[in-house]
Amino acid sequence: MIVTETLKIIKQRRSIRSFKDEQIKEEELQAVLEAGLYAPNAGDQAWHFTVIQNQEVLDRLNLAAKEVAAQMDFEHLRALGNNEKFNCLYGAPTLIIVSGNEQAPIPLEADCAAATQNLLLAAESLGLGSCWIFFVLLAFNAPQGSELRKLLKIPGGYKPYTSVALGYKKAAAVQAPDRKPNLITYIR
Ligand SMILES: Cc1cc2nc3c(=O)[nH]c(=O)nc-3n(C[C@H](O)[C@H](O)[C@H](O)COP(=O)(O)O)c2cc1C
Repeated sequence: MIVTETLKIIKQRRSIRSFKDEQIKEEELQAVLEAGLYAPNAGDQAWHFTVIQNQEVLDRLNLAAKEVAAQMDFEHLRALGNNEKFNCLYGAPTLIIVSGNEQAPIPLEADCAAATQNLLLAAESLGLGSCWIFFVLLAFNAPQGSELRKLLKIPGGYKPYTSVALGYKKAAAVQAPDRKPNLITYIR
């Protein structure tokens, strides 16, 4: 089996859901963001990254997302929305929201997903904890959604597609479970 640093990081990365309060260093943030900007993209970089490191704003997003989840048909999401103890950002001190230009001629979800994976892998390579977070995006469906967009200065015509919570890991991640069999077909 070939082993490289990159392959090791890919296998080592796990979603982290428990963070220290301490903010990450600016140079770590910049390295993670740069990795995101270098992701493959079909929309000619028609994405936008919003970095949130203001605890009050993070709390507002968490509460608004939970408010929406509490009204949803999915039992699992409803339970999380109604769980007072649940914080959809797991106490991470940094959140990066990746938005895509809705006017782009191709769907930008894939571009934003590619950027997101780069953010996660870069974070892991720096020893940071990270988690891809869909839940917090529910905040934009809340009655205060457009106010939040304004507060976060999300450019007009851009839709938040993904987000990444970032911070220092409170505990080491456990090893990833074995991969399922029969997920690959070879035609040779
Ligand atoms: C599109 C997408 C949305 C996700 N949203 C959430 C989320 O809202 N909250 C969360 O805790 N994890 C979220 N995750 C993380 C997954 O739960 C996690 O990647 C999966 O369980 C595999 O675990 P691993 O990342 O440790 O390998 C999301 C992952 C993806 C790809």
